[in-house]
Amino acid sequence: MSSRGDHYGIRRGRESDVDQLARLHATVQLQAATGGEPHAGISAWVHDLLSGHPSVTPDDFLVVEDTTTGRLAASLVGLRQEWNLAGIPLPVMQVELVGTAPEHRGNQLTERLLAALHDRCATDRVPLQIVEGIPHFYRRFGYDYALAHGGAPTVPATALPDVYPGPWTVRPATAADADALARLDRRQVDGDALVSPRDAVAWRYELVGRRAEAIVRREVAVLLRGEQVQGYLVHGTALNAAGELVVLAATCEPAGRWPEAAAATYAYLGRVGRRYATMAQRPFHAVRPLLDPDHLLARIGPTGIPTRPRAWYARTGDPVELLARLAPLLRSRWQSADLRWPESTLVIDTYTASAHLEFDDGELTAVTARRSTIGPSSDASHHAAIPPGALLHLTVGHRTLPEVLDAWPDAAVRDGLTGQFLTAAFPRVPVRVWPWN
Ligand SMILES: CC(C)(COP(=O)(O)OP(=O)(O)OC[C@H]1O[C@@H](n2cnc3c(N)ncnc32)[C@H](O)[C@@H]1OP(=O)(O)O)[C@@H](O)C(=O)NCCC(=O)NCCS
Repeated sequence: MSSRGDHYGIRRGRESDVDQLARLHATVQLQAATGGEPHAGISAWVHDLLSGHPSVTPDDFLVVEDTTTGRLAASLVGLRQEWNLAGIPLPVMQVELVGTAPEHRGNQLTERLLAALHDRCATDRVPLQIVEGIPHFYRRFGYDYALAHGGAPTVPATALPDVYPGPWTVRPATAADADALARLDRRQVDGDALVSPRDAVAWRYELVGRRAEAIVRREVAVLLRGEQVQGYLVHGTALNAAGELVVLAATCEPAGRWPEAAAATYAYLGRVGRRYATMAQRPFHAVRPLLDPDHLLARIGPTGIPTRPRAWYARTGDPVELLARLAPLLRSRWQSADLRWPESTLVIDTYTASAHLEFDDGELTAVTARRSTIGPSSDASHHAAIPPGALLHLTVGHRTLPEVLDAWPDAAVRDGLTGQFLTAAFPRVPVRVWPWN
């Protein structure tokens, strides 16, 4: 029963909710695309999530029940996954399928569902929540665009090579490739990027586990040098409305092999795009890589049309805990920059809590949370005052310290040395994630 004294109650999802959940979401999501008809791709996705998805159980759905009828009024799902930030495992909760039945709108049901989800994340120590959602809406709930998404140039179909005669081949992946794909992902964590590695079970699910019509189904192709799988591509199952073939992920191990593998990759994407165009009887205009602009495949590919990067909404309930998880990374970044902190503590205050970074002989040994002080930006015992949202941007590598100081007037560092340390601690991080949904 609701604590607000109305007829709504929040509870976890149950296996028996599957048909109601599929119906609710198929009739509220992407209605502009279906002209008001139920969306078959959404319905299939909900069924997939509740039968066979490797990391989702009915419990991961949160639902609002209308207690007068027992019917579902709204729901969302929290998809748990483990990302990796330059070697540090990072539990992430991705919010998907946020929807309220039209007759129940106006009751702030998403706010209640997200409050419940955030409580669950705090209890389960999942420090980062993300959502790719309607512009601005999620800012109401403490989310901010803090994870870059895309930004690589769009490659016109006319710029794609026709054939590639070299030692690399690209072919659709099969379930038998799952182990090789997982091996490639394991190596991703050794780089400096934010990645979302999949194990063999998750890869098998991507390859053969989803219903054909599920809206989030993607095609996977493997890059081979001779017989050996050395990379992969993940792309859409059809052209998008703009006639583009969207590429969600592209990996080659080692990445230094991209200059050899790129021509075969673009030639393959050209073949796929033309095949999709023939099937749909409409033109194929371009390949749209949702990759970061520094991705080697984007940098060495055919000249493309510059694309403005997008971003995912991100939130943390505890920026100091998020920072503490990164302690080994901060230590190694300072070692690489040959920096040793001269005091026993470095205090970063967020105006709501403060992070005490403890040092022994110049090396970081621990990060602990303490209460914030009033007026931290002028407290002489504090080295930096960084508002919680700005600290999130720094920790995930979305903004550098100079950018934070420029954009947040209430962010401050005590002196040049602190500025030097925090600049080295928080470089920009390439985002190479492809969330598990
Ligand atoms: C978006 C949606 C979930 C909001 O439902 P809800 O949480 O029950 O929200 P309410 O109807 O109570 O509206 C809450 C507030 O959000 C605002 N809002 C609702 N939809 C919005 C949207 N698409 N964009 C921006 N603001 C929106 C409302 O104006 C309202 O503002 P107010 O409190 O200042 O008056 C619901 O409209 C929906 O199911 N839409 C279709 C599916 C969808 O787009 N889902 C989101 C996918 S990311």
